[in-house]
Amino acid sequence: MHEEKIKRLYDLKKAAEIGGGEERIAAQHSKGKLTARERIDLLLDPRTFLEIDKYTTHRDESASQKFPGDGVITGFGRVDGRLVFLYAYDFTILGGSLGEMAGKKIVKIMEHALKVGAPLLGIIDSGGARIQEGVLSLDGYGDIFFHNTLASGAVPQITASIGPCAGGAVYSPAMTDFVIMVENVGQMFVTGPEVVKEVLSQDVSFEELGGARTHASKSGVAHFIARNEFECMDKIKKLLSYLPQNNTEAPPLAETSDDPNRIDPNLVNILPENPYQQYDMKQIINSIVDSGEFMEVHELFAENIVIGFGRMNGRSVGIVANQPSYLAGALDINSSNKAARFIRFCDAYNIPIITLVDTPGYLPGADQEHNGIIRHGSKLLFAYCEATVPKITCIIGKAYGGAYIAMGSKNLRADINYAWPTAEIAVLGPEAAITIIHRKDLKQSPDALATKKKLAKEFRDKFANPYIAAEKGIIDVVIDPMETRPFIIRALESLADKREIRPPKKHGNINL
Ligand code: HXC
Repeated sequence: MHEEKIKRLYDLKKAAEIGGGEERIAAQHSKGKLTARERIDLLLDPRTFLEIDKYTTHRDESASQKFPGDGVITGFGRVDGRLVFLYAYDFTILGGSLGEMAGKKIVKIMEHALKVGAPLLGIIDSGGARIQEGVLSLDGYGDIFFHNTLASGAVPQITASIGPCAGGAVYSPAMTDFVIMVENVGQMFVTGPEVVKEVLSQDVSFEELGGARTHASKSGVAHFIARNEFECMDKIKKLLSYLPQNNTEAPPLAETSDDPNRIDPNLVNILPENPYQQYDMKQIINSIVDSGEFMEVHELFAENIVIGFGRMNGRSVGIVANQPSYLAGALDINSSNKAARFIRFCDAYNIPIITLVDTPGYLPGADQEHNGIIRHGSKLLFAYCEATVPKITCIIGKAYGGAYIAMGSKNLRADINYAWPTAEIAVLGPEAAITIIHRKDLKQSPDALATKKKLAKEFRDKFANPYIAAEKGIIDVVIDPMETRPFIIRALESLADKREIRPPKKHGNINL
C-alpha cells in the first residue's frame, strides 16, 4: 500500500525533473545551453539543493499539456558552504515563460530569502510573460519587482542572463545588484529586433541590440560577462565570496598569506613623471590588495573609473579609482552613475570603500552638459556623503576642482585621507589656472608660451601639491607611496567598529 504511494512520488519526481521532455532538452543542448537543472548543479555545492514547489502546475485548463514545475525551478542550497536562494527559468517548459504559478514560486523563494537573510540568485532563460496567461503573468512580474525592491539593500541579489530576457521582464534583473551575461547566449531588451525594424525601420541583430558585449560596454546593464556558463557560475561564486549574507552582517574574513605590512618600492614608478602621460590605475590596485586579486565590476563600461572588490588583510573592500588611461580619468555621466551605484551597494552591505584619486575634473562639453552631467555627477557626491561605512581615500595624482571633492574628499566625510607626495590638489590644473589668473600677463608677454610654462611651473610648485591640504587637516597623512598598503590596512582596522549616526528619515532623494 505504502509502496504504491512512494512509487507515485518517485514517478512525479521523475516527470518534474525531465522538464519539457527529452526532445526539448536536446534542443536546449543543441543551442549550446545547459538546462536549468544542470546550471543549478554547476552553481551549488553537491547535494545541498532543496527544491520546493516541484509539482506546481499552471491553472490554464484549456492548455493541452501541464508541466510540473511550471517553467521555473526554485529552492535553496549552498555555495562554498553558505546558504543561497535561487530561481532558474526552465526554457524547456513553454520557453521558460512566466505564468501565474511560476510568478508565485519566485515570490515565495524571495520571501524566504528575506526571512532568513540570504542572497538571492536568479538565472534567466525565458520567453517573458506567458502569452496564454495574459494579465496573470504580468501580475507575477509586478510581484517580483516589488520583492526585488524589498530585498534591495537587505540581501544581495545577483542575476545571470543565460538566454532570452525580453520585454518588461528585463526590469527584474536590472533591479538586482549585479547582472552577469553569458556571451552569445544572454539577451536582454525591452523591444526586440523585429519591433525595432517595424517601428524604426532599423536593422539590428539580437546580439547587437541586447547581447552581453552591448550591455557590458554600452548600456552598463551587465556588470560582468562570461565566455560560457561554467565561467558564469565561477564568477557568481567569486562575487559571493566578497559579500555578507545580508545587510546586518560583515563580509566574511578570508585567510591571507599576504603580509599586511608589505611595502612596494616600485609603486611610485607606475605613476609617470609627466602628469599628462597615461598609466594604468589597475597596476596600483593590484599592488595594494591581498595577493594582487581584484574582481573588477563593469570592466568594459565607463572605463574612466575603475570599481571592484578586493581584500585588505582578509577584509572585503570596494575600490573606486580614476583610470588615467581612459579619458585621462575625467569624470563623466556614465562613470558617475557607475561609481555612485557601487558605493551605495558597498554601503548597504558593510563593505568599506577605498578611493584612489587621479582625475583632472569633470569632462567638459555640450554633450555632457545636455545629457545631464549636473544631474548624474551629483549622484557621486550624494553616494559618498550618504555612505557611512569606513571610507579611506588616497590621492595619487591630480585632484582638481569638483572632481577632487567628489572622489571621497574629507568634506564628504571620508574617515582617513591620504595623499602621495605626487598629489596635486587644486581648484584647476596649473595650465588652466594660470590662463585665468594671469590672463593680462600672458597677453602682454612677448613669449606667451614660455611665460605660460614658467607660470604653470610656479603654480604647480606653490599650489599643486598635497601640503597645503595637509596644513589645513584636509589630508590626514602624506605617505610614501610604497607604504600605501600598510597605511590603508591600518586605517581599515582602526575603523572596524565605526558607527556613524545620521538623522532619521524615510529615505534620501538621490538625483536619479
Ligand atoms: C508562451 C512561449 C513564450 C511566451 C516562448 N514560448 N515564449 N510560450 N509565452 N512568452 C514557447 C514557444 O511557443 C515554444 O513552444 C517554446 O516556448 C520555445 O520557443 P521557440 O520560439 O521555439 O524558441 P526560440 O526559437 O529559441 O525563441 C525564443 C524566443 C521566442 C526568442 C524567446 O520564443 C520569442 O520571441 N518568444 C516571445 C517573446 C515575447 O514576446 N515575450 C513577451 C515579452 S513581453 P513549443 O511548444 O512550440 O516548443 C513581456 C512583458 C513582461 O514579457 C512585462 C513585465 C512587466
